Amino acid sequence: MVGTGTNELEAGKDSRYDRKAEVKAFDDTKLGVKGLLDSGVMKIPRMFHSPKLDPPETENSPSDSNFSIPIIDLQDRHVEVVGQIQSACKKWGFFQVINHGIPVGVLDEMISGIRRFHEQDADARKPFYSRDQNKKVRYMSNSTLFTDPAANWRDTISFNVYPDPPSSEEIPQVCRDIVIEYSTKVRALGFTIFELFSEALGLNPSYLNEMDSAEGQFILGHYYPTCPEPELTIGASKHSDTDFMTILLQDQMGGLQVLHQNQWVDVPPVHGSLVVNIGDLLQLITNDQFSSVYHRVLSRHVGPRISIASFFVNISSQGMSKVIGPIKELLSEENPPIYRDATIKDIIAHRIEKGLDGISSLEPFKM
Ligand code: OGA
Ligand code: NI
Repeated sequence: MVGTGTNELEAGKDSRYDRKAEVKAFDDTKLGVKGLLDSGVMKIPRMFHSPKLDPPETENSPSDSNFSIPIIDLQDRHVEVVGQIQSACKKWGFFQVINHGIPVGVLDEMISGIRRFHEQDADARKPFYSRDQNKKVRYMSNSTLFTDPAANWRDTISFNVYPDPPSSEEIPQVCRDIVIEYSTKVRALGFTIFELFSEALGLNPSYLNEMDSAEGQFILGHYYPTCPEPELTIGASKHSDTDFMTILLQDQMGGLQVLHQNQWVDVPPVHGSLVVNIGDLLQLITNDQFSSVYHRVLSRHVGPRISIASFFVNISSQGMSKVIGPIKELLSEENPPIYRDATIKDIIAHRIEKGLDGISSLEPFKM
């Protein structure tokens, strides 16, 4: 899940630069990056400058890449679908699904609803701006704004929808009905995909759902405004998601990239499709049979871009205290456990401490 930034410290090079004050003043506006643009900025403030945008030379530019993300038709023959999922989860950690059963009208309306929220008047958005973790509906720019070395060019509204959903009055009126409808439909699709994952792993179809993998869901409604200086900042820094699985709905703008064999590969928008990716927790319990891979979102002159990410993990205190480890049925003498057991809380806490550009967030949980 997007939240943290790059790890190189830029502030400090110039002792007169008061980053803290700049960040605080920005946060105090409660209007996000969209508010900055509305105020007419032509240059992006320094707090958004990413120190290194495309660091290791091994990460080639997308134009060099002949790879493309698998697209899986869920209406294909069942055995074929399971086979394609198995290979996509191992080799890519990312794929798109079509014919997934959620009407395209629902997807389009969800994108419109999130856009309406971010584009309504300042007075209407401001009351939702909050960093209070206990709120089930929150609007903010960069969840880890105060600890990241560089902010991302992005605003977000988040909904903690399962197991303890907000009351409908807590959801902004401009997107209320569609957020409720979309989240219910995506949760059902999540169950179906966890069944396919279970089968792809050679387990009983209900295995992952019985482990409560789909027992938690939260949604981030991202808004990536037009960026006047896209070469200086990024929409979402390189990261992997710390959940079991993420289902992402993106509009037609593009900009999402996946790191595959050391190359950044575009995830092209396909109208009506949904992007599915494996999170760190699923990589851990599958003992590396499935991979959680790095991804990022570029900032662009064109925009805005809207995307909606649904994360499957239970972040209630009860859910977070659950201990997970490699699934016993997947282990053997040739396949010894790579990871030790840990609580979901420990795994998530570790990644927050470490930031994102470090090694895999699963590294400390290796045997
Ligand atoms: C995320 C994420 C990608 C996007 O929210 O974790 O990777 O396209 N989002 O917004
Ligand atoms: Ni992500």
